[in-house]
Amino acid sequence: MTEPILEVSGLVKHYPLTRGILFKKQVGAVKAVDGVDLTLHRGETLGIVGESGCGKSTVAKMLVNLEKPTAGEIRYKGEDITKLSGRALKAVRRNIQMVFQDPYTSLNPRMTVGDIIGEPYEIHPEVAPKGDRRRKVQDLLDVVGLNPEYINRYPHQFSGGQRQRIGIARGLALRPEVIVADEPVSALDVSVQAQVINLLDRLQSEFDLSYLFIAHDLSIVRHISDRVGVMYLGRIVEIGRDAEIYDHPTHPYTQALLSAVPLPDPEAREHRERIILVGDVPSPTNIPSGCRFRTRCWKARERCALEVPALAVPAEFRHATGPEAHDSACHFAELKQVVPPEEPQA
Ligand SMILES: Nc1ncnc2c1ncn2[C@@H]1O[C@H](COP(=O)(O)OP(=O)(O)OP(=O)(O)O)[C@@H](O)[C@H]1O
Ligand code: SF4
Ligand SMILES: [Mg+2]
Repeated sequence: MTEPILEVSGLVKHYPLTRGILFKKQVGAVKAVDGVDLTLHRGETLGIVGESGCGKSTVAKMLVNLEKPTAGEIRYKGEDITKLSGRALKAVRRNIQMVFQDPYTSLNPRMTVGDIIGEPYEIHPEVAPKGDRRRKVQDLLDVVGLNPEYINRYPHQFSGGQRQRIGIARGLALRPEVIVADEPVSALDVSVQAQVINLLDRLQSEFDLSYLFIAHDLSIVRHISDRVGVMYLGRIVEIGRDAEIYDHPTHPYTQALLSAVPLPDPEAREHRERIILVGDVPSPTNIPSGCRFRTRCWKARERCALEVPALAVPAEFRHATGPEAHDSACHFAELKQVVPPEEPQA
């Protein structure tokens, strides 16, 4: 594996819950992100998956400094960027850019495409002097597969897929090293999703990018990710190489998510065991003690309510050398193959 470019440890975001109008009193907290650890290596794609509300976007926003963490560290090339301010912070931010989910609302409808893509140069004029900007923006349009002559058009003149290409061009404008893509294809038609994924794939090798790729759908993440982390209620519960997570999951939550993934092969579909989770996801204002998944876990026992399982290789696999030996936050982790392994691609 290449060297780490982003290292996140103990990342927390709690939003205070207050009561009262004149005298606000904190009565609790929304624990949107509650202790996330992850490492992104240079040139890799780390997929993050999990149900709606588990904290994916909040993690993304903290990585690009749109939200301040309540606690924890985000190290970029070894330096904790949560401690930086002023010029040092600005220099680091340039290198970590975000691509947003909804290309319909994330582009200002009153700005031309040229102004949208070139806007980051207003904040970082050192990257493109004024006289050079138009050409740079046209180059970016070309790179993302759009006609450079569209530079004076407005967002409403483009389709959803084209708008997401504009969002990606803007994300690339400052030549970042890391792109945090928050559900970049979720709002697009299935037929367009693959084109945008292929574009991201091509740009990754062309610009030597490292991606944190967020999705709620395990099947989208598989094709683009080298490693995958599964989130539940503000934490990562299992993380590993994609074959480890898809073909050798050891955490009950991952197994349940996989059991709901659509399978193209009807025979495989018929033989697959569906794991139906009971109950709803608990509120992030009231996280269960011990293992946060225990209220929906079919394997929960007394220990699960008492001890928080650490995200580490489970004791039963500590001496294993195969794909089951990856980090999984479960006291009773066991291997369970839920979907048939993919044929190696030629
Ligand atoms: N500004 C805020 N104030 C209070 N609570 C918030 C705020 N932003 C997010 N939350 C809450 O934090 C939790 C995590 O939200 P987040 O948007 O990170 O989830 P997500 O995994 O991205 O979900 P989705 O898949 O729907 O995009 C949710 O319960 C959400 O309601
Ligand atoms: S620790 Fe217990 S409750 Fe949590 S996932 Fe494992 S078996 Fe289920
Ligand atoms: Mg989100």
